[in-house]
Amino acid sequence: MNNPVNPNKALWEKGDFTRIAATMRESGESFVHRIGIGPGMKVLDLGCGDGTTAVPAAKLGAEVLGVDIAANLVAAGNRRAQELALSNCRFQEGDAANLRDLRDQSFDVVMSIFGAMFAPRPHDVAKEKVRVTKRGGQIIMGNWIPNDPTLVAQILRISSAYTPPPPEGFVSPMTWGVESHVVERFGAAGIPKEKITFARDTFTFNTPRPPAALVDDFRRYYGPTMNAFDAAEKNGKAGELQKELEALFEQQNQSPNKSATSISATFLRVTVEV
Ligand SMILES: C[S@@+](CC[C@H](N)C(=O)[O-])C[C@H]1O[C@@H](n2cnc3c(N)ncnc32)[C@H](O)[C@@H]1O
Repeated sequence: MNNPVNPNKALWEKGDFTRIAATMRESGESFVHRIGIGPGMKVLDLGCGDGTTAVPAAKLGAEVLGVDIAANLVAAGNRRAQELALSNCRFQEGDAANLRDLRDQSFDVVMSIFGAMFAPRPHDVAKEKVRVTKRGGQIIMGNWIPNDPTLVAQILRISSAYTPPPPEGFVSPMTWGVESHVVERFGAAGIPKEKITFARDTFTFNTPRPPAALVDDFRRYYGPTMNAFDAAEKNGKAGELQKELEALFEQQNQSPNKSATSISATFLRVTVEV
């Protein structure tokens, strides 16, 4: 019998996030420095993609496990770790809402940068993160913020206007960018709100190509934007969506060289003391 399709997994395997991740390398490096990753720490990176944060964490000497729902990204992460001879970094498939292969209290840091926010069942995600973190350890999440004026929140807002309404009961990933939801979800997992802190942080997308080329990458490789274009094409609106995104990327581009792209995006950094 065939396994039923998991739409969450299918969404990310449909594209190839490595193409977008290639523009985020400097931000991944500087992020793991900022959060104090160091030698010997046991680190879990959830929704790790091909290792934007897992690989630099391993370069800092941590013992890193990357878990992602997309088989193609797990394979890409393992290839990167091998090419860089990082024997302290490995990637495996798994679902942030059900980490059944991982033991209780086994990581010093559980981080998830724009990763676990995309898993359905956010309360299970919070519970699983708390379960696998050592007492005295930390959970760190990076979550896009709904209605934020910067790049990714705007891509997701524009894309959703072209996509059919989600199935009933669907919880938007963007709710992870709202402090009250974060407090409620970790509260249900046994963490009092005094143990949770919030900060605004930034990731920058850099490419030597112009903004329209980056739009093209999102159109061809980023699951949520691919779905928006599929739906828009059916309604004859793909050109409109393309124009809206190109205008957004042009307007947000901070590169002095207009044939290159550098766009910063704001996110909510959540730190939970377990
Ligand atoms: C926007 S990408 C970010 C990837 C990576 N953290 C980075 O910064 O490059 C979102 C990632 O979350 C993963 N993901 C989505 N749902 C997941 C789930 N339920 N469990 C684990 N990973 C998931 C996707 O496969 C994808 O790699």
